Amino acid sequence: MILLVNKNNIFNEDMLKDFQMIEYENYDGQTKYVESETFRHFEMLRAHLRVDGIEIDIDGAYRSLESQENLFLKFMNKYGIDYAEEIVAMPGTSEHHTGQAIDIVIKKNNKWIIENDDLLKEEKIFDRIHKSLKYFGFVLRYPKGKENITGYPYEPWHIRYIGEKEAMEIGDLTLEEYLGKE
Ligand code: DAL
Ligand code: ZN
Repeated sequence: MILLVNKNNIFNEDMLKDFQMIEYENYDGQTKYVESETFRHFEMLRAHLRVDGIEIDIDGAYRSLESQENLFLKFMNKYGIDYAEEIVAMPGTSEHHTGQAIDIVIKKNNKWIIENDDLLKEEKIFDRIHKSLKYFGFVLRYPKGKENITGYPYEPWHIRYIGEKEAMEIGDLTLEEYLGKE
């Protein structure tokens, strides 16, 4: 069953009852938690991209209600409330609570690109990454042109594991459209 968490479908802890979280230390030495199947598939995606000279890592995956709140505050202090409200989901409405969403970062010229603005400039690399997602069960969750359906601006870095069969099937639909829910 595919979990839908968005502004209309609120997360509850029950959703995690069959999930196992993997602990992972990222490029920055920070400990991140990722749902185990999502992590297994992420590792395959990463190995696949590495062959093409593309290096990716995890900037964020599972977030508790509290860490989502802290992220909101961090964005508000750094970029102002307008951008924070636009891009950071309110606690309880983020699919990061499931551990099945991953924000990726990319390495270029031996440097990790981590800021949203800088990542948005890497169109070519993200095109290549996005083309591979479905083979590993991932979807680009907030694509261009679907902002009114997903409720969020384009986020090239936010990928979501939904399962291999489903990811091959979904095509250009958002998760909301695919599941027939708002
Ligand atoms: N940036 C996505 C929408 C989140 O905060 O979950
Ligand atoms: Zn995200």
